[in-house]
Amino acid sequence: MTSVSTLDRFSAAKCPVRVAFVGALPGVTLGKQTTSSRFGQVGVDQMQPDALERYLYEFPDGADLAVVFVAGGSAVPESVRQLRARQEFAKARVYVVGVPPGARVPGWAETFDVEDMLTSSILEGEALVDMIDLGLRAYHSLVRDPLYTDYYLDSTFNRIFDWFETTRWNWKEIKLDELNPELLRDDERDYLMEAAIIEFGTLPGAHNFLREWEGETSFSSWALQWGAEEGRHSLVQARYLDQLGIKVRSKHALYKREPYPMGDTWAGTLMMNIISEARASEYYRRLAADTNEPVIKRIWKLLGRDEARHCHAFYVFSKELCDGNKDNQIAALKMAYIWLADRSEGIKHPAGHFYPHSTSAAGIRRIEKLVEGATDAADHRVTTLVRRLAEDDSIESPRDIKRKLRSLMLSA
Ligand SMILES: [Fe+2]
Ligand SMILES: [Fe+2]
Repeated sequence: MTSVSTLDRFSAAKCPVRVAFVGALPGVTLGKQTTSSRFGQVGVDQMQPDALERYLYEFPDGADLAVVFVAGGSAVPESVRQLRARQEFAKARVYVVGVPPGARVPGWAETFDVEDMLTSSILEGEALVDMIDLGLRAYHSLVRDPLYTDYYLDSTFNRIFDWFETTRWNWKEIKLDELNPELLRDDERDYLMEAAIIEFGTLPGAHNFLREWEGETSFSSWALQWGAEEGRHSLVQARYLDQLGIKVRSKHALYKREPYPMGDTWAGTLMMNIISEARASEYYRRLAADTNEPVIKRIWKLLGRDEARHCHAFYVFSKELCDGNKDNQIAALKMAYIWLADRSEGIKHPAGHFYPHSTSAAGIRRIEKLVEGATDAADHRVTTLVRRLAEDDSIESPRDIKRKLRSLMLSA
């Protein structure tokens, strides 16, 4: 076997994704490259165990160590330990080769995140190509998630789960048979209809989150819970209307089932949702304060609280992306500027942009006009969150956001 102690920059630039073989593999012939359906040309490096540490130390920036096959009997645990000691190679998939058939899996295999223990015969002939492809496939799954954590419970989803789960209201709290129609004003019936329809708009939102975050697990797990809560919002208001003899047509949900174009960046998409949740929360809060009908007062109060919880959760996921990442800060601030600065046409909610054939875009504007001052109050709250995301206490207006954006982009 040829022993290389370092990967030269030329080879790394030509084939940035690398597969490494450590230790002697009798009877196995390796080329310098292999082809992968996911990564194109992939470079193959070979070395003896004593050269691994230097190889890892001098591994060029911009190259990715995707899969490592480790052979060499007693030297194997130390080789795997050296690899796992470096956090930058945490996603590299490791296979131990040359294990006798039926051998017990040692405890360090789980500690060092070894993918599999293989007998030597598994690397013979065509099986070698298949094995490399399997490793690259596993690696590909991990690199698609920029927020990947080694352990499931280290994810942000797990961190916010208890708070989110334990603040959910109970469906039994809603006593629709106690509502008093005489206490409800005509304009409030209109708001109810608009709000029930607008809440249908969360369906494409849920579809799009899962499409846009495909390959990721933490935010996607939370998005499922978010979607379930939004589903209650349209249903509870539609049922209230039903008690009044007013039927909500299904077409309103179907109008928004086409997926809308995906956002450019996760941070931008999250900011858009921080804003729409903050505004929704404020509208419900004001509608609840204003009505004399106790059942809808309770419902709107609960929904206002839900939207505030959603706003906060979107903020937590956004903060995770923005912390120490200028590109994500820029994307979030750009989105905040677009939405907060230009309200001349009313609220620019995605529903208005992407579903002009649906009535809800006009509905949002109507609610905005009727619930005077609510958008200002919500946007004030959003500005506080933008300050924290940008780590700049001087941001108080859209103009300040623009100034901050300029300085971030100049220093990027
Ligand atoms: Fe909602
Ligand atoms: Fe919401």
